[in-house]
Amino acid sequence: MQVIYTKKDLEALVSSLRSQGKTIGFVPTMGALHPGHISLIDQSKKSSDITVCSIFVNPTQFNDKNDLVRYPRTPEKDARMLEQAGCDILFMPAEQEIYPEQDQRHFDFGYLDKILDGAARPGHFNGVAQVVSLLFGMVRPHKAFFGQKDYQQVMIVKALVKQLQLDIEIVPCAILREPDGLAMSSRNALLNGEERAVAGFIPGIMQEARRVYHERGAEAAQGSVQEAVNLHPLMRLDYFSICDKDTLLTPDQTSGNAIALIAVFVGRIRLIDNLML
Ligand code: PAJ
Repeated sequence: MQVIYTKKDLEALVSSLRSQGKTIGFVPTMGALHPGHISLIDQSKKSSDITVCSIFVNPTQFNDKNDLVRYPRTPEKDARMLEQAGCDILFMPAEQEIYPEQDQRHFDFGYLDKILDGAARPGHFNGVAQVVSLLFGMVRPHKAFFGQKDYQQVMIVKALVKQLQLDIEIVPCAILREPDGLAMSSRNALLNGEERAVAGFIPGIMQEARRVYHERGAEAAQGSVQEAVNLHPLMRLDYFSICDKDTLLTPDQTSGNAIALIAVFVGRIRLIDNLML
């Protein structure tokens, strides 16, 4: 695996690979890698000649500066995991490489960046769009792989590619979970023992919401989630919403096209998850 630190070196390498006719698959990450990230590397390897992974904790997408400061960083372990997974190129830029000057761009995705995580985390998706568009410009991938744990992010990135008319296929990938069902996340490492145990209730709360939704509808499902969260003093609901899976707008109850999305604080740590209904 080649480890690259600068935009200049990456661009030279990508140009050479592209001129040899190689296809490039790209997995952008913020590091503190876990098997969920590695599953994206595996998918990329299956359908691309060369797989590039980036690790960059992007400051512009953190609306909460404490979240940025405590975000876990494990670069040596990450590099070992990627090497073992057969990743070809690891791009680990310093902040200066990505943002030599402040990125002033303001993206507009209509309603899509103003609901759910867009409403709960002002500026978050603008920061994601900034960094992903810059990384896409440097890596010039044919395909890019994104996890459906960040369901709204996948939709934002698809909208970004359309808006910028980029020739990049966005491939959504399934959520990888811990044995108790908790969605794998870099932030899980920040939970203490008690918080981790409580976080393990999230998948069950979502399954129950699905059952209630089919039996008694969206409002009853919402109530069941709020009630379940209230049972655990360490948990606080940020949002729970049932949406159309293609638009994230109010679903047509009869279409069978619904998804439930949740954001919940466990102690100070904010976790997200979703479940197709
Ligand atoms: P990060 O949270 O590191 O996630 C990198 C990629 O891994 C994202 O596409 C995310 O959806 C995926 N991922 C995380 N947990 C997963 C799981 N349990 N199963 C499957 N995939 C999972 O998302 C970001 O970084 C950033 O916003 C980024 C896109 C890199 C821009 O900075």
